[in-house]
Amino acid sequence: MANWKSHKSLAESAAFAEGFPTLTPRQRARIDVVLFPPFLALSLMASRVAGRDDGLAIGAQAVSATGPGAFTGEVSAAMLRDAGARYALVGHSERRRDQGEDGPVTGRKVRAVLDAGMCPVLCFGEQLDERRAHREEHVWARQLEDGLPRDLSGVESEGLIIAYEPVWAIGTGLVPEREQLAAAAAGIRRILARLLGERGAAVPLLYGGSVKRDNAGAILSIPGYQGLLIGGAGLDPRHLADIVAAVPL
Ligand code: PGA
Repeated sequence: MANWKSHKSLAESAAFAEGFPTLTPRQRARIDVVLFPPFLALSLMASRVAGRDDGLAIGAQAVSATGPGAFTGEVSAAMLRDAGARYALVGHSERRRDQGEDGPVTGRKVRAVLDAGMCPVLCFGEQLDERRAHREEHVWARQLEDGLPRDLSGVESEGLIIAYEPVWAIGTGLVPEREQLAAAAAGIRRILARLLGERGAAVPLLYGGSVKRDNAGAILSIPGYQGLLIGGAGLDPRHLADIVAAVPL
């Protein structure tokens, strides 16, 4: 999953769609590739990927917790779906930091995305000082408790994705050690089991934070992760294609 953040004009977005190679039938059958362009390029990108017929999908980087109504500047989940988005990020660390998208509002946003028939991608992860204080598991538990609605049905939990993104790894070139990532996956599964029971085992877990084409394969070989959330490396179609090619099939 490639989060473009606040990058790319409409022309640059279209050029990405041109430059990204068509997925092979085998890749298409096994991998979900999702692009998260800025809001203003959502419709354009949705129509570009619809024309490709290789399963590429589009998601939104943010979503309102509210439905339609007097909420100036907000973009509701239903509007995103209407524009062609099938996924929406919730609680990305940059939005937790800059937009106050933290705490119970993340749960309301996940609920709004599910109600619109889309897949929420709930992002969570600790700050460096929290890891140094060995408090990371406590942080994950709090963020997952806030973000996962308690009234999740079985069908809805199948559409839910979570993304572990240590804040200190985002955009820094730092990636947790293999052992740290394996331990994180185990700890996160324990929290999911407590919150969601048996259904927790089926929720796909992504890793995000300084994923590049030269480390993607190694990260995906760590047990417990089903995918990647990519920032900077997802801006270049060739880099993203190399990361897709690194997925073991
Ligand atoms: P990065 O960003 O890959 O540039 O570190 C990851 C993210 O913010 O999801």
